[in-house]
Amino acid sequence: MQIPCTAREKELFGSVAQAARQIGVPCYLIGGFVRDKLLNRSTKDMDIVCVGDGIALAHRVASLLDPAIKVNYFKTYGTAQIRYKDIEIEFVGARRESYSENSRNPEVAPGTLEDDQLRRDFTINALAISLNEADYGQLLDPFNGQQDLADKIIRTPLDPARTFSDDPLRMMRGIRFASQLHFRIHPETFQAIKDNAERIKIITQERITDELNKIMLSSKPSIGLDLLYQAGLLKIIFPQMVDLVGVETVEGKGHKDNFYHTLQVIDNISRHTRDLWLRWAALMHDIGKPATKRFEEGHGWTFHGHDAVGGKMVPRIFARLKLPQHESMRLVKKLVELHLRPISLTKENITDSAIRRLLFDAGEDLDALMMLCEADITSKNKAKVKRYLENFELVRERLKEVEESDRIRNWQPPITGEMIMETFNLKPGRIVGDLKNTIREAILDGEIPNSFDAAYQYMLQKAKELDLTPVK
Ligand code: CTP
Repeated sequence: MQIPCTAREKELFGSVAQAARQIGVPCYLIGGFVRDKLLNRSTKDMDIVCVGDGIALAHRVASLLDPAIKVNYFKTYGTAQIRYKDIEIEFVGARRESYSENSRNPEVAPGTLEDDQLRRDFTINALAISLNEADYGQLLDPFNGQQDLADKIIRTPLDPARTFSDDPLRMMRGIRFASQLHFRIHPETFQAIKDNAERIKIITQERITDELNKIMLSSKPSIGLDLLYQAGLLKIIFPQMVDLVGVETVEGKGHKDNFYHTLQVIDNISRHTRDLWLRWAALMHDIGKPATKRFEEGHGWTFHGHDAVGGKMVPRIFARLKLPQHESMRLVKKLVELHLRPISLTKENITDSAIRRLLFDAGEDLDALMMLCEADITSKNKAKVKRYLENFELVRERLKEVEESDRIRNWQPPITGEMIMETFNLKPGRIVGDLKNTIREAILDGEIPNSFDAAYQYMLQKAKELDLTPVK
């Protein structure tokens, strides 16, 4: 079997084959590397399985390539890793499961290549390529993984209930592969995910979130997110998302299904950015809707304040999902809180000060916010979409004009708290904060120009009203 390889990969295969021959253990390329080569996707890590001692093989390969290479190994698992230039290579001895009579849990024992392939998660991940002299380059595919690759099917080599009970994270991996590769999950495999969904609770949050992020980074995240929902996994790992599902109707009036709307917004934004946090902002932008939903007589459904409520939910959800608590969380929270603001600026007679305020509040994240707002347009009515986009274009122009004249984006008010304290000999306290805010508001409202002198005079005037006198 000929697979397209780089010169470095060929060099590595040669060394692995030579080392394996020297210590007399057959060895094979296996797993994601083979799958991705056959799909013409880029590859990074390489997995090698050998029928024998994987740690010994890793040491021999390292000494052939460069004796300075460090071998990391885990005796308990029989695995070893080396890094050669930019490639990470993982070695493992082939294993099989054996059942001892007095234990219901399988024990892992050395096995053949086929035993090892059978223990793997999906047929497309169980393909192996021989690195042995007798059949070098031959594809070894006992479970028709190649056919499943061609048919775009995710299925387990074993009874799926067994495969998932060995490692319930595999349920999320299957959905993640479906989302990344645009594959379908075989109905029996999917049914087993539904049946075993509760078992995800035994998996650590870090591993779950890692898979969730991979789904979020796939080209069409809605595929994976919808599968997580359909399988019953989403309500366990992210119940607030499931609260968005459904349409309620009162007096013949329904609202849109906020779950499917959200999925469309994520797909929309994913066409424009690979930034994980902008995608998370899209996922969370309407998360406050279920808590704020009301039916107003004669008016219909409203979700007043869902932006602020949603923003407040972000830190808690990030903490629960063990997502980062700093910069990225702050960005997502800010975008959720501000996501309605540009729409409110598409109305007529918008003042410069409203525009200035958005420039100030969004600061350096204005472009990200505008991208989210455009992704939020999911109407099926083409004329409506066109009108919304044109309105946003007008908002963008106004923002540009005001920014050019006022330079408010990334702006710091000209009078700082320290200056106020020095001028009036004040200690840090509320009065300093109030004065500082008053000056900032006056500039944002266009009451005074954005200059040091104007702000200083204004500060003196406001201080006088508070009976404060400058110390010099
Ligand atoms: N594997 C498995 N069950 C798991 C994790 C991994 O059977 N829960 C097997 C699969 O054969 C997989 C291989 O180990 O192909 C390597 O795993 P990993 O590097 O985690 O995933 P890849 O399939 O290489 O895919 P990706 O790098 O995209 O995560």
